[in-house]
Amino acid sequence: MAEAVARANSNVALVKYWGKRNEALNLPYTGSISITLGGLTTTVRATTRDDLGGDQVILNGRPGIPPATARITAYLDLLRRVAARPTRLTVELESNFPVAAGLASSASTFAALAAAGSAALGIELTPAQLSILARRGSGSAARSIFGGFVEWLGGELGDGSDSYAIPIAAADHWDVGFAIAVTAEEPKPVGSGAGMAHSVKQSPFFPAWLEGQEQDLDAVRRGILARDLTVVGEAMEHNCLKMHAVALAARPSLLYWKPATLAVIARVQELRNECIEAYFTIDAGPQVKVLCPLAERDAVADALRRVPGVQRVLLSQPGGGVELVEPT
Ligand code: PMV
Repeated sequence: MAEAVARANSNVALVKYWGKRNEALNLPYTGSISITLGGLTTTVRATTRDDLGGDQVILNGRPGIPPATARITAYLDLLRRVAARPTRLTVELESNFPVAAGLASSASTFAALAAAGSAALGIELTPAQLSILARRGSGSAARSIFGGFVEWLGGELGDGSDSYAIPIAAADHWDVGFAIAVTAEEPKPVGSGAGMAHSVKQSPFFPAWLEGQEQDLDAVRRGILARDLTVVGEAMEHNCLKMHAVALAARPSLLYWKPATLAVIARVQELRNECIEAYFTIDAGPQVKVLCPLAERDAVADALRRVPGVQRVLLSQPGGGVELVEPT
């Protein structure tokens, strides 16, 4: 029996990953850039079990049953293939934030699972290889391997060996923070994978989305390095609205927002008129992630709490990459 425990933070994309050129390998059409979210964490304990006939998955303290566990057990099959070992595993996953609601729980889950699972199975990997392995579970998990400001290089090769994340700057590079307005806690109706596949096939705007990505990546990369919130924020909002425009224009249409999502967008625009520099981004769900100077985060969070329909506001700031912790 070998045991490993890993902890990984979620991340939020400033320039989004939206569309796969290879669905089986989670290969994106373009690169993306994110901030790793300190404090929004998934912890995974992986234990090899030669005494079991099948894998055992425990989700937030309760035995998981299919179909909720199907993606996890398929991923354990992949880890066994990489390790060339048939060993069954017990994996215990615990997240401290709402899962499947557009808060990228899959990013922290698969980053932590890749690290804990590979360590328990004795697979030795470089950080880039670990990012590739995490990507196989969920694309955005490739970015959660690293802390701070992170770019996932989309890559060009068919086998995905050049599609992994790299750090742009460490978490302490820039004093920014996130106030995250939670507008609905229930799981989203269309997951990001299905939403992307639908957008690629059914949205007339998908080609335009691809065309603009390099420019947005350049602006955000440059803005991060210069600590220029205006440059990063404007490019981030533009990129988010384009992603949702692609989804909205698909047939049938894909709408991830709730009325409160729009109310938060309006409030963020007002905050800027009140000289608080805040910018929003939204993933495949109704929550709104608001980026602002760390010193203004509490004021922004207070404003968001007062928006009708906002259920709660989570706080975050750039956090660390995946780490193995001592099993207790
Ligand atoms: O990692 P996935 O397959 O859940 O995709 C994440 C997609 C978005 O969150 C919408 C964008 C992103 O880059 O994280």
